[in-house]
Amino acid sequence: MCGIIGYVGPQGAQKVLVDALRRMEYRGYDSAGIALVSDGSLVSAKKAGKLANLEDELTASPIADAHLGIGHTRWATHGAPTDANAHPHLSADRRVALIHNGIIENFATLRAELEAEGITFVSETDSEVAAQLVGREVTAGAGLADAMRTVARRLEGAFTLVAIDAHNPDLLVAARRNSPLVVGVGDGEMFVASDVAAFIEHTREAVEMGQDEVVEVTAGGYRVTDLDGNQTQGKPYHVDWDLSAAEKGGYDWFMRKEIYEQPQAVAETLLGRFDADRRLTLDEIRISEAELRTIDKIVIVACGTAFYAGLVAKYAIEHWTRIPCEVEIASEFRYRDPIITARTLVVTISQSGETADTLMAVRHAREQGAKVIAICNTNGSTIPRESDAVLYTHAGPEIGVASTKGFLTQVAACYLLGLYLAQVRGTKYGDEIAAVMAELESMPGKIQQVLDGTDAIVELARGMADRGSFLFLGRHVGYPVALEGALKLKEIAYLHAEGFPAGELKHGPIALVDEGIPVFVIVPPQGRDQLHDKVISNIQEVRARGAHTVVLVEEGDTEVAPYADVLIELPRASTLLQPLLATVPLQIFACEVATVLGHDVDQPRNLAKSVTVE
Ligand code: F6R
Repeated sequence: MCGIIGYVGPQGAQKVLVDALRRMEYRGYDSAGIALVSDGSLVSAKKAGKLANLEDELTASPIADAHLGIGHTRWATHGAPTDANAHPHLSADRRVALIHNGIIENFATLRAELEAEGITFVSETDSEVAAQLVGREVTAGAGLADAMRTVARRLEGAFTLVAIDAHNPDLLVAARRNSPLVVGVGDGEMFVASDVAAFIEHTREAVEMGQDEVVEVTAGGYRVTDLDGNQTQGKPYHVDWDLSAAEKGGYDWFMRKEIYEQPQAVAETLLGRFDADRRLTLDEIRISEAELRTIDKIVIVACGTAFYAGLVAKYAIEHWTRIPCEVEIASEFRYRDPIITARTLVVTISQSGETADTLMAVRHAREQGAKVIAICNTNGSTIPRESDAVLYTHAGPEIGVASTKGFLTQVAACYLLGLYLAQVRGTKYGDEIAAVMAELESMPGKIQQVLDGTDAIVELARGMADRGSFLFLGRHVGYPVALEGALKLKEIAYLHAEGFPAGELKHGPIALVDEGIPVFVIVPPQGRDQLHDKVISNIQEVRARGAHTVVLVEEGDTEVAPYADVLIELPRASTLLQPLLATVPLQIFACEVATVLGHDVDQPRNLAKSVTVE
C-alpha cells in the first residue's frame, strides 16, 4: 500500500515527484524518498516519517534536479520505519534505484544468495533485494527492461516495482504483480504511479497495466510486455475526475470534506441506472439474467467498513430477493473452505479495489466456479478487473484513510444490486422496485438535511472527547451502523468503542455499562413496531445502569425522547434505507472527537488507505 511515482519529461522531476507523493501520502506515511538521474549518476534523499520530513531534508541539503526520477511513500512491512529502510533502494554500485510496493515472499532466499556473492545490504527490507537483483543484472550488461523482466520472474508475492538506471536518463521501467500500477500519458511527459491521483494535475489519460507485465516508459511513449518480453497491450482510459476532486476544498480534513460530499456521491452512484422502460439496468454487470436466475446463494465478502456495508446489504437482499445471503470477512473466507458452487454469487465490496484479503477471496471464489460481482470505487483496479462483473460506486477519490463516502456509496450500490436481482428473479413487482428506487433517489437530499443540522453532534463531540469508552447499539440494519460508528471512533480518535446488536447486550456486554458511559443507540423507524419497541427497551436497560444515552431517531418519534439524554433527529426513511442517514452523525462525531484530541484525522496511526498485504 505504499505510494509510487515515476516521472520522465521536461519538467523538473523533484517538484513533480514531491507533489505526487503529497497526493499519495494516504497510502502510507512511514517514510518518503526520491531518486533522480542527474549527470550520469543517481542522487537521492529519503527520510523516515511523513513527507514533510523529506521536504525539510531537501531544503536543508538540496540535491540536483533532473528530468527523470522516482518517489515513494512507505507503509512499513519488513523493517521499521527508518531512513535506511525508506525507498528508493540503490544497488550496491549505486547504478540502479528502485521503489517497491507489496511483499516479496521469497526475499530471504534471494537475500542470502546476494549476500553469498558479497553484496552488503543497507536495509532490512524485502524491497532492497529487488534493487540489488536488478542492479546485478544491469551491471552484468542487461538493459534495464530485460533486467526487470528477469528479476520479476524470480520474485514470489506481490509487487509494483519501478527502477531507473544512472546510465539512462530517459527511461523508467516498471513491473507489477498483484499490486497496482498505472501509466499516465502526458504531452511530451510520462508518469507511472500506484494511483492516478499522483499525476492527475498533469494528465487525465491513463493506461491500466495487466498482471505480470513490464512497462518501459520514456518521455515520448511507453511499451508494455509480459515477463518474457512479448509485447502486450495496456488498456488506455480517461480519468473522469480532476485535481480539485483530490484536494481538500477548504475543509480541515479530507475526511470532513468527504463526509460533506456524500449527498453528491450517493446521487452519482444511483445515476443512470434505468433504461427507457424504467427497468433497472446495471450495464457493468456482465453476467446474464439467465445465470443470475440460477443463483441459490449469495456470499458477500469484504473487509472493515466495506464488510459493514455488506452486513446492511444482507438485510435488503434477502428481503427483496429471498436468496440466502451470507456476509463474511474476506481474510476469514478463503481459509475456512467455504461451500461455493457455480450457483453461488459472490459479491465483493471494496472502495480501493486493491485490498489483498478481498482480492484473494475473489480468486478463491472464481476457482470454485462461482461468479463474482465487485462493488468498487476505483476504476480499473485489480478486484474489478479480476471479477466477472463490476458495479462501480461513483464516490470520486476517497483520500481520508477512514472510509465515509466510500461506505455510503457501497450501501447504495448494494441496494441497487438487491433491486436488480429482485427484478431479474421476479421477487418484486416493477412498481415495488420503482417505489424503493424513488425513495433511494430522495436520499441524497435527506443526507444533506442531516449534514445541515450537525451543530448538536459537533457540540456533543467536543464535550465527550475526554471519555474513555463508548458503546454503539443497533438492531437489524442499525446493527452494522453501530459497528461502523464504533470503528470510526477507534480508528481516528484511538478511543475504545464497541458496537453491539442491542438485544445481545444483556448476554454479556452490559457489564461494561457504568455511570456516565456514552451509549449511542440507533432507533429504527416507527412502523416496524416490534423492532422499534424492542430498541426502546434496550435503551431503558442501559439507562437504568447509568449510561448517558445518545439516541438517533427519526423526526417526529416522540416515544423515545423520555429515555434519551441527547436526541439526534434523522429525516424519515424506511427501515432498510435508514443506514444512509444514521451513519452520518456518527462519522461527524468521530471526526470532531479526533480533531479535538489533536489527531491527524486523515492519516491515523498504523493505518493505510489501501491494504495490499494479507
Ligand atoms: C475503515 C476503512 C477500512 C476499509 C477496509 C477495506 O474506515 O477504511 O476498514 O473499509 O480496509 O478497504 P477497501 O474498501 O478499500 O477494500
